[in-house]
Amino acid sequence: MFSRAIILGLVAAVSRVSATGPCDLYASGGTPCVAAHSTTRALYAAYSGDLYQVQRASDGTYLEIAPVSAGGVANAAAQDTFCTGTTCLITVIYDQSGHANHLTQAPPGGFDGPDVDGYDNLASAIGAPVTLNGAKAYGVFISPGTGYRNDATVDIATGDAAEGMYAVLDGTHYNSGCCFDYGNAETSAHDTGSGHMEAIYFGTETVWGTGSGSGPWIMADLENGLFSGESAGENAADPSISYRFVTAVVKGEPDLWAIKGGNAASGALTTYYSGVRPSGYNPMSKEGALILGIGGDNSNGAEGTFYEGAVTSGYPTDATETAVQANIVAAKYATTSLTSGTALTAGSQISLQATTPGYTTYYVAHNGTAVSIEVVSSSSSTTLKEQASWTVTTGLWDGICFSFESVDQPGYYLRHDNFVLLVNEDDGTKQFAEDATFCPQTGLNGEGDSIRAWGYPTRYFRHYNLGLYVASNGGVQIFDSTTSFTNDVSFLIDTAFA
Ligand code: AHR
Ligand code: AHR
Ligand code: AHR
Repeated sequence: MFSRAIILGLVAAVSRVSATGPCDLYASGGTPCVAAHSTTRALYAAYSGDLYQVQRASDGTYLEIAPVSAGGVANAAAQDTFCTGTTCLITVIYDQSGHANHLTQAPPGGFDGPDVDGYDNLASAIGAPVTLNGAKAYGVFISPGTGYRNDATVDIATGDAAEGMYAVLDGTHYNSGCCFDYGNAETSAHDTGSGHMEAIYFGTETVWGTGSGSGPWIMADLENGLFSGESAGENAADPSISYRFVTAVVKGEPDLWAIKGGNAASGALTTYYSGVRPSGYNPMSKEGALILGIGGDNSNGAEGTFYEGAVTSGYPTDATETAVQANIVAAKYATTSLTSGTALTAGSQISLQATTPGYTTYYVAHNGTAVSIEVVSSSSSTTLKEQASWTVTTGLWDGICFSFESVDQPGYYLRHDNFVLLVNEDDGTKQFAEDATFCPQTGLNGEGDSIRAWGYPTRYFRHYNLGLYVASNGGVQIFDSTTSFTNDVSFLIDTAFA
């Protein structure tokens, strides 16, 4: 039997563990967070302020999402209620450190060229659902073209000053574009030269440095180069990452810097590089802007998912980072369902019926490559009935969502290309698999299902002037029109015609 004193002591010990956030640990290590970003949880035990802000398309209003309690997980249920029947974007990722180093929609930069003046896209609020200790939360799903930035920060390292940073990312969401980064970058959003950045990079970009294997790798974006080690080449000690949840660490001080990584769901961090600066990067000329999902010059071709991260003042000790990793593991990141609505079964055959008033006799059909909605009925020709029938398969990319294979052309699937829906043969590439993977959710107009593009979760199957697209609820393309959006993206999933 335990005594009352022992039990009280155990309770106090447990609450001390849960009453510590990563930024409490950095502070007690003497390297406090000067920026702390997370849409999933508070990064300080005492933090009960806003984590992020979402905006819904239906009426343009905003909702601040806070933790359910101080130090806790984000109130995802509040977001779900607010976004029911419409679409929501993440507009602000608040800085929890008290420095107001918030991340908002990234402005155009050097990468965009003289005739492009658009801001980056904002992330869907529902692209990256997870659970933390069983409680649902949402990460930030960065599709190509999406990015967040703050060019006017407070107390972020400049020049050769010491800093550290960590991020928890989805190790299965990456590409070879430039550059899925989190960290310190140029305040002008232009490439101002080597050493003007110090950010975590994750992905398979091979133009500069690489690690071992085929990636993805954690590297450091130091500007004009992604570094896995001392020089822009292969550092065999920087491994390919295959963890679903990955902790990535980069830190730097005068002529010393390091990369560390590990499984964010278990175990410890490993040092992949620790040593001198690359030639031409000593001393550093850090500028102190903050970026998420983009390169220093706003290169926005990359993709990845961010759950939480922080930037410190001072070079954290390994002991501090060990404690931070243990805290992340204790948060118990886990996957959860990406779909809702109609339960689809791999191997079943379906048709997709429009719900827009005036178009309910129309179904998604293809003729060769081209996809459109067509009037189909039981008395249609066998050819048309087959063209309007789809075999459900598990998602070609993630094995979790779904793909839709043509009934009359097996091996050919619905996929988007430049946001137009096409039927193409599976070429076995990662790009094809991603473009052919879709996550159905309860129909945005309350009928049937809305079929979300896995890689672009702001975008859904949408008929527009009878053509088929993956469309967002407002945007630069004509088919992104908000008029009739919720109706045009909602389809009844019926049994197949053929
Ligand atoms: O260092 C790699 C990239 O090069 C930077 O992120 C970007 O600013 C430049 O294009
Ligand atoms: O449809 C959007 C993108 O366009 C696809 O992901 C890519 O294959 C093409 O460039
Ligand atoms: O695709 C048919 C109609 O075309 C859509 O309902 C409407 O948004 C567009 O004008």
